[in-house]
Amino acid sequence: MTQQTRYVIAVLPGDGIGQEVIAEAEKVLRAVAERFGWHVELRHGLVGAAAIDQTGRPLPDETLALCQSADAILLGAVGDPRYDDPRSRIRPEQALLALRKTFELFANLRPVWVHPALASASPLRPEIVQGTDCIVIRELTGGIYFGEPRVESDQRAVDTMIYHRNEVERIARIAFQAAQRRKRKVTSVDKANVLACSRLWRRVVDQVARDYPDVVLQHMLVDAAAMHLMRHPRDFDVILTENMFGDILSDEASVLAGSMGMLPSASLGEGRLGLFEPVHGSAPDIAGKGIANPLAAILSVAMLCRYSLRREREAKAIENAVGRVLEAGYRTADIAVPGQPVVTTQQMGDLVVGALSAQGSGT
Ligand code: IPM
Ligand code: MG
Repeated sequence: MTQQTRYVIAVLPGDGIGQEVIAEAEKVLRAVAERFGWHVELRHGLVGAAAIDQTGRPLPDETLALCQSADAILLGAVGDPRYDDPRSRIRPEQALLALRKTFELFANLRPVWVHPALASASPLRPEIVQGTDCIVIRELTGGIYFGEPRVESDQRAVDTMIYHRNEVERIARIAFQAAQRRKRKVTSVDKANVLACSRLWRRVVDQVARDYPDVVLQHMLVDAAAMHLMRHPRDFDVILTENMFGDILSDEASVLAGSMGMLPSASLGEGRLGLFEPVHGSAPDIAGKGIANPLAAILSVAMLCRYSLRREREAKAIENAVGRVLEAGYRTADIAVPGQPVVTTQQMGDLVVGALSAQGSGT
């Protein structure tokens, strides 16, 4: 018997449409493994509200152990309106923050690419969005998301934004290296006219930039960047920014791609273990209806192949398969324009699997 390469993937579907889109992502992962001749073992774990319901905690120890033993983590979404009450002490989102922090996944990569076939799916004019190809590189384990002290009382609340030089430096290097493989431009987004953290950010990014003389660096204030992204999205290549600005700008950027349902993400640390998830949330309003767009989750599997398994051919094969399905005119409801056939979540997954198998092997 020949020894096959074998990967263990921790699969955490989580809440709402997370369950539905991850089911399709799993199909694609199995199909790509089969086509390229390696073995993948998918081990499921509880996360988010689904985990709170069964164990009382958003990130049970078993899930953490499962992730620790895996080559990569594939996550659906966390969030449930039952925990929206600002007084609730346990929230599904805590699981995601804990996973990022525990595995030191400090680099969040969110590519925003407008597929030519989807230029008219955006609420913005096609001539503005077409040709957009940028990536938000968001610092993910620092800043106001994790700063101490944090105080919460009825009279006063405190959040603290902290950045250390080394945190800025390591994410900046990721951004410059990404730019070297792309269009050689980094736009670093901050609020240096107001925030001390942003002034440190700017100084460190300027220093790191000296090591990458082939990359053009531009600084932009976050308010201006939010506007520029809607007016001239093609001006951007790599958008480097801190945790909360990146959270906001990446949702904004999703409008360019036609739908939140199109955007994948990777969260990476120093090692190979990464967490891959669609940028969208659990979307309770459409959960269980079979209409969610699974492409963000499927494209997250492509990123999983690229960054954790280091299998670029497989990543490309998945991206090409998605491209062909879109070119053939298939749309889930979120990206459909009048006259186009609308397919369900499952049908979209099957179409991608079909397109994947139809490609000649080894290409
Ligand atoms: C995201 C989400 C999370 C974040 C939430 C769910 C905690 O909005 O991944 O963008 O704010 O980072
Ligand atoms: Mg967000």
